[in-house]
Amino acid sequence: MKFYLCSTIHHSPFTIHYLCRPMDINCTEKELFLLKKIAHAAGELQMPCYVIGGFVRDKILGRPTKDADIVCVGDGIELAHKVAERFQPRPNVAYYKNFGTASIKVEEFEVEFVGARKESYRYHSRNPEVEPGTLEEDQLRRDFTINAMAISLNRDDYGKLVDPFNGMEDMKAGIIRTPLEPGQTFSDDPLRMLRAIRFASQLGFEIEGVTWEGICLHVDRIKIISQERITEELNKILLSPKPSVGLDLLYRAGLMHIIFPQMVDLAGAEYIDGKGHKDNFYHTLQVVDNISQHTNDLWLRWAALLHDIGKPATKKFEPGHGWTFHGHEVVGGRMVPKIFTKLKLPQNEKMRYVRKLVELHLRPISLTKENITDSAIRRLLFDAGDEMDDLMMLCSADITSKNKFKVRRYLSNFNLVRERLQEVEEKDRIRNWQPPITGEMIMEVFGLPPGKIVGEIKNAIREAILDGEIENSYDAAYSLMVKKAAEFNLQPVR
Ligand code: CTP
Repeated sequence: MKFYLCSTIHHSPFTIHYLCRPMDINCTEKELFLLKKIAHAAGELQMPCYVIGGFVRDKILGRPTKDADIVCVGDGIELAHKVAERFQPRPNVAYYKNFGTASIKVEEFEVEFVGARKESYRYHSRNPEVEPGTLEEDQLRRDFTINAMAISLNRDDYGKLVDPFNGMEDMKAGIIRTPLEPGQTFSDDPLRMLRAIRFASQLGFEIEGVTWEGICLHVDRIKIISQERITEELNKILLSPKPSVGLDLLYRAGLMHIIFPQMVDLAGAEYIDGKGHKDNFYHTLQVVDNISQHTNDLWLRWAALLHDIGKPATKKFEPGHGWTFHGHEVVGGRMVPKIFTKLKLPQNEKMRYVRKLVELHLRPISLTKENITDSAIRRLLFDAGDEMDDLMMLCSADITSKNKFKVRRYLSNFNLVRERLQEVEEKDRIRNWQPPITGEMIMEVFGLPPGKIVGEIKNAIREAILDGEIENSYDAAYSLMVKKAAEFNLQPVR
């Protein structure tokens, strides 16, 4: 693919190189092969056709691509069928007549075809009437100038960049701007307000002033967008290199207030008797950024985002002592399923994982030098199980104090906890450990039905082993079981 503008941008820092001869835009061999096939099929139909949008943007930025949008001045479905004919085996063409779109999948690469249109690009538009338009009309109704650039696949000017709104200039300057007056672009599809913020966070770009004002003015319109689409953008922001950029923009625009009000409740610092607490919203953003330097796992990032979510509900001012947030980890843990339900995030083990980390996030750091006993460590290992390493990562990301001495103290204590965890784990192998006597065994020995007593005996055995009061063995556990059962006047029946 030749680029007549002959420029490329190297991602972060955005250095721009002008070359004096046409150059490749780093398409893979497979992508070039595919684009050629599309070009030939379009040529055969004498249908002007272009690759447009995210593919062009990401190629120029050197980001990975897994799909491409093709716009043609004609019938996109007809073109898709013509392209499919050129492949062996022939890919299936999925098409939506009402929307005039079609897509094919070649290996893992997805190509979407659409006829140039006059009206906006809305996913699942409620009004699927499509009015054909010119390429420029089509570009004008796209979301941002950097997403409106097209590259010709036509014989006469194959590889030419068609960029009527100076998307390339905005790309070089790192700017997100709507091609139309922002109010129009955002009314066409209010999700674009989130997309602007998501691209700012993903690409490290700035939202241009008028576009930003447009967002702030139209935040209420986000209410008509489906939760699934909103959450998809939220997840993309959370997966961006520095999520605080997007999260802060959401907050400053007033979008966060609508889509995720519990986060807004964390913001601000209250003062009584000259004593204030930290702003838990910005603290949370810092924790999310910290953890994002070590993990790309979406759910661990969600745990960081929600770790203090219970603070507003538990906040108290205790005279002579200051601000407290007692039990915020428990309250926060309880909020996780509700937030996941509202945001239509999965209600499965991912949610339980996030909840567990929120509930346990204070445990490692709350162990002071005096109470880093074997039993405290064993208990932590038992409670965290497989999540122990992730919990430690969350916990160290949570150390954000501006007070250097405090940070040093926390870190040295934290390292001590880390060492002790390793020692105890090597010695006792407590992670994923199950006590030697199960509930079923207790029921069988004493002829009991399931119930409270069985639970109490089982817990007593587990606690005694974790506290180091009895040995972690079947015999020791059996003796304790018999002793405990006697307190309930129970004798073994066999
Ligand atoms: N588009 C738009 N308005 C939207 C969604 C998409 O104008 N609300 C246009 C943009 O030109 C965009 C193209 O459709 O580049 C393809 O959309 P999509 O695949 O959703 O996004 P990409 O820009 O490719 O980026 P990403 O895959 O990261 O979402």
